[in-house]
Amino acid sequence: MFQNNEGGGDRSLLLMIFGGTGDLTHRKLLPALYHLLADGRLPEETSIISIGRRPMDDEGYRESARKSIAAHSRTGVDGERLCNFLRHVHYRQMEFIGEPDSYRELEDWLSRNEALYRAPAVRLFFLAVGPEHFGPIVEHLRAHGLVKKGNPAHRVMIEKPFGRDLATARALNETISDALEEKQVYRIDHYLGKEMIRNILAIRFGNSLFEPLWNHHYIDNIQITSTETLGVETRGDYYEKSGILRDMLQNHLLQMLALITMEPPVDLMPESVRDEKVKALRSLRRFDQAPACGGVVVGQYGRGSVRGVEVPAYREEPKVAPDSNVPTYIALRASVDNFRWGGVPIYIRSGKRLDSGRTQIVVEFKRLAGVNFYPEFEGQPPNLLVIRVQPVEGMYFQINAKRPGSEFQMERVELNYSQSSRYQGNVPEAYEQLILEALRANSSLFTRWDELEHSWRFIESLEENCEYLSNLLAYPAGSRGPEAADRMLESDGRHWWDIEAK
Ligand code: BG6
Repeated sequence: MFQNNEGGGDRSLLLMIFGGTGDLTHRKLLPALYHLLADGRLPEETSIISIGRRPMDDEGYRESARKSIAAHSRTGVDGERLCNFLRHVHYRQMEFIGEPDSYRELEDWLSRNEALYRAPAVRLFFLAVGPEHFGPIVEHLRAHGLVKKGNPAHRVMIEKPFGRDLATARALNETISDALEEKQVYRIDHYLGKEMIRNILAIRFGNSLFEPLWNHHYIDNIQITSTETLGVETRGDYYEKSGILRDMLQNHLLQMLALITMEPPVDLMPESVRDEKVKALRSLRRFDQAPACGGVVVGQYGRGSVRGVEVPAYREEPKVAPDSNVPTYIALRASVDNFRWGGVPIYIRSGKRLDSGRTQIVVEFKRLAGVNFYPEFEGQPPNLLVIRVQPVEGMYFQINAKRPGSEFQMERVELNYSQSSRYQGNVPEAYEQLILEALRANSSLFTRWDELEHSWRFIESLEENCEYLSNLLAYPAGSRGPEAADRMLESDGRHWWDIEAK
């Protein structure tokens, strides 16, 4: 996970962003690239070519990039460094569908520029466009020689969603594998670039305290939560086709599940880690038995108030059908059917327009069998390990200890590690890490095709076997989501742990 099998130091970089005027580029990619370049983590010879359909010249684009970086950078922006960064940025107007000549011209431009560089160039194509364009763009790149299959310096980064079901994901993958070898493909799940998600391996395998207990003998249940206060905003047309299953569950949530439940890899090299993740995803129980569907709750937000602001219902959002049945919330009980996890429920929940925005993984340990013999210990909460991914990054361990004083009274104690306070502002954003690792040809932070295949199988089994949409529950924006999600855990004798960020 942390190993790089190729450095970026002796290289030059040509980074082509398809979707250069889009939201992702302006909110995430340009600020990430600014930090990477300002911190000296990109080669000196770096050119960033933003490609879009809108007519604009370099100067116009740089001006809009300057504003986006100032607005979205994770720290204050240094004027001189920003000017220096913008010198590396170019804009190219291009019709990327239906105009093959534009690819020929781009290839000429790239070859001319590569010839001027001292160090051999890495060509990195970042596809930050609608998913319907992924396949056609890769085909054009291949057909016009912009990427050559087997050339390790030619790489393509592909945003999610990768397909909309197993069949379309397979078709897209075939197009991509015609043009590129697997090691040239970087399928993005930006959660894998988040610090605390990368930290899961370190916490699990770097501590003698946790790994011996990491199984059904000692763990009662695991809860993976990723909630947002935001609604779908301007992405109604995309969300209508994806809903929470494709937007969060198939990728971010299942990736977290795989990292938490996988076996220790042989080493931390990309393929070893990904082999183990695939095994965990393969062991995920499918929804092919009727009772399993009882462990699924879906909902859609109605009007409500989020942090004191009145917000519209999902069905009133722009580009959303007024009778839409697309779920914006899901809670489910999953099981990883292997020797380590047999009988341990893994509860997952995620939703938009909820009362809080937080991503965390809670590992609830079993109570000690003998504890019932000590009346003083009655009612003590279980031990919890909480991995806080956002908004605050850190880790929290809940234990029980004696309250100071003459009486023998127990109290809950929190051992709290706040990475956010320890490394204020110095923690790189997910996209910084992802771009850097793609430059280093380190694919461990990206999803391999077979991981996606098994994730899609899971989603498909849910859609095919559970008539979950007939039970779509409305929840007010700003609430905790449907109460049925609480009842699901109550019926198991458990409850959700909502651990506040500290
Ligand atoms: C994206 C989804 O992949 O992840 C969005 O498309 C969601 O709908 C976002 O808001 C959440 O990412 P983060 O980094 O803000 O937790």
